[in-house]
Amino acid sequence: MQTDSLLERRYRVLGHNSPLFYDKPLHLVRGEGVWLYDAEGRRYLDAYNNVPHVGHCHPRVVAALSRQAATLNIHTRYLDENVVAYAERLTSLFDPQLSMAMFCCTGSEANELALRIARDCSGGLGIISTAWAYHGNTAAVMQVSSLFTPEDRRGPYVRTVPVMDPYRDRAGRSDEELATAYADDVKRAIDSFSAAGVRFAGLLYCTAFSSEGLPTVPVGFMAKALAHVHAAGGYFIADEVQAGFGRMGSHIWGHQKLGVVPDIVTMGKPMGNGHPLAGVVARRDLVEAFTKSNMYFNTFGGNPVSAAVGMAVLDVIEEEGLRENAVTVGDYTLAKLKQLGERHTLIGDVRGAGMFFAVELVSDHQAKTPATAQTKRLINLMRERGVLISRIGMHDNILKIRPPMPFSQQHADLLVDTLDQVMETL
Ligand SMILES: Cc1ncc(COP(=O)(O)O)c(C=O)c1O
Repeated sequence: MQTDSLLERRYRVLGHNSPLFYDKPLHLVRGEGVWLYDAEGRRYLDAYNNVPHVGHCHPRVVAALSRQAATLNIHTRYLDENVVAYAERLTSLFDPQLSMAMFCCTGSEANELALRIARDCSGGLGIISTAWAYHGNTAAVMQVSSLFTPEDRRGPYVRTVPVMDPYRDRAGRSDEELATAYADDVKRAIDSFSAAGVRFAGLLYCTAFSSEGLPTVPVGFMAKALAHVHAAGGYFIADEVQAGFGRMGSHIWGHQKLGVVPDIVTMGKPMGNGHPLAGVVARRDLVEAFTKSNMYFNTFGGNPVSAAVGMAVLDVIEEEGLRENAVTVGDYTLAKLKQLGERHTLIGDVRGAGMFFAVELVSDHQAKTPATAQTKRLINLMRERGVLISRIGMHDNILKIRPPMPFSQQHADLLVDTLDQVMETL
């Protein structure tokens, strides 16, 4: 009753188009670790949310937040030990050439700032992003977010290039041939800017290719494409909003796993474990050139509370070995999901890295026909059985499984067993 009336009130004041998960929206009231609790006291295993990266309401993060909030919180135009120490710690996690940080409050703002830096420093406007990508909600960032912006609304300064998905696009080609085909597509997009009289500014992609469906991009895949980008005077912006902070297990950043060094990196979501903290880390020469001719001030981005929270998140990741946990539990979970794939013909492909998994559902293995309707039913049935996951991909037929990082083998067992039971009923 309480939930029904809340839904009605929400519709009235926020509208029917403000997105909500599940056919029966969830009314959550509490979180702890990998668990969420609804208004009726029912417990859900959270196998979806990456924002509570170190676990919902982690006591260490909550304590850092409340301690600093009770001491001082102010906008960012004063000297503050927290933000300098945090920026030093954060940049130390990158390749040495990525040595300067700028802070903001959302991933959208981080990507907006990155686009401004790339455009200002290159003197160009043309940006290449991947097909079916999402990078945020500002006017400029929406134009490079093809997931929600149809081609005729992307404007003249955006081209999209699909990332190669070895499951669907291999067509008998080796990794090397796939990489060359992708690099050729990037080169063609750069040439099409020149043909249209648009100077090129850069290439932007999410280093997990999350919205694109988490394709297993081979190591070394990007090198040729990035050579074209740099030869054309553009910059590579790595969006680490989803892949960063150890999510991919083997490395702290998705671009490190791909074996490339970006010119500009953007990050958000997990950075503040739910507190609105986001940022850009970039090459010193680019940040200095940009800030010389552009004023950048963000009232809240990197304030003393945000910096204290960001630091606590890094402490927890390191002290609790959460990246290492993403390797061991991640490998375990992936293996179990693959075993499930041998039992259920609906599963066409299982892939992932670290604590990020995709299970692609198809109704015909040969034709790889997307099982979109079953995927939607499945995530709703999982929710009914107390496990939260979602879906991604161009056909909305890929289960998106991306739990908070303290996910354990027991949690993985519960996830996969529930998935097994639900698939039996489809
Ligand atoms: C890869 C990626 N980049 C950027 C964003 C935008 O972040 P925010 O919603 O914090 O603005 C998102 C959000 O889903 C994202 O997934």
